[in-house]
Amino acid sequence: MATTAHSLRQACADEMSRHPRGFGDCDWLREAFLSVPREHFVPDRVWWPAPGEDGLHTLLDRTVQPQDWLTRVYAPGDPLITQIDDGAVPPTGRAKGAFTSSISAPGVIIELLRHLAPRPGDRVLEIGTGTGYTTALLAARVGAANVVTMEIDGRLADRATERLATLDLHPHVITGDGEPGHLAGGPYDRIVATASVRRIPQAWLDQLRPSGLLVVPLDSPFGWDLLLRLESNGRGAAHGKFLERVEFMRVRGQRKPLPYDGLGWPPEADPEAWRDLRVTAGPEGQQIGLRTGGQEPG
Ligand SMILES: C[S@@+](CC[C@H](N)C(=O)[O-])C[C@H]1O[C@@H](n2cnc3c(N)ncnc32)[C@H](O)[C@@H]1O
Repeated sequence: MATTAHSLRQACADEMSRHPRGFGDCDWLREAFLSVPREHFVPDRVWWPAPGEDGLHTLLDRTVQPQDWLTRVYAPGDPLITQIDDGAVPPTGRAKGAFTSSISAPGVIIELLRHLAPRPGDRVLEIGTGTGYTTALLAARVGAANVVTMEIDGRLADRATERLATLDLHPHVITGDGEPGHLAGGPYDRIVATASVRRIPQAWLDQLRPSGLLVVPLDSPFGWDLLLRLESNGRGAAHGKFLERVEFMRVRGQRKPLPYDGLGWPPEADPEAWRDLRVTAGPEGQQIGLRTGGQEPG
């Protein structure tokens, strides 16, 4: 029996209501999730990131397998890959390569937004528009006119703008490198990146309001990214802690590995103890170390 987008969205929301890393007590987030048709943001042809023995990822084609495609769109833990090798691989069949854009898994986006905790009317900067889906969720909370979103890939930015406009959402979509942020649209109450960094760009810290929050996946020496939330001191520095283990694609300008000691990581950091690490970032660079007591970031 065919299942509708509406019923799958509801079932996905129910699962994320029960999950410890889901909506929590954020009713607004559940409402936003239920109000945005995720399927509207997913291209007809996407790769499902589960390679076969040959390393190739399966292509899901909406026109050929509409029900499989829709079921995957609403699988809480499944990202769908929308671009491989910066667009060099056409979505015409099974493929492998570096994932360079996706629509992040519902559960991951919900977790990010729960920690970001945007309030109605907040000014928000998003780095990594991708399909525009996260942008639409943000717009549902703060109003599209308060959202600035930056995407480095021009074709992706154009498509996201069109999809958002079809839903009568008109955030400020900027095609370009998000690492310098967008000074003219700030200051921001919230900045969120849906691509990970090795080094937190100083521009993001400079463009945050006092007590503003930055939520960003940070590459770690442990073999995975850690979701980091920093609170601004209003003078270009911010302090905070890691929240969850996550996995994101890197911002384009930071794909190349760098030595971790040059990125403020302590030597021989214990992967089991990441929750005890505290992060300060600012004009002096970023420093990561074990908490030493005193006031704790929220
Ligand atoms: C995981 S995807 C974002 C998914 C998006 N949140 C969604 O819901 O569809 C990461 C995106 O970041 C973009 N990106 C990478 N580096 C960037 C940069 N320096 N500035 C802006 N966007 C960047 C990629 O092109 C990609 O589209």
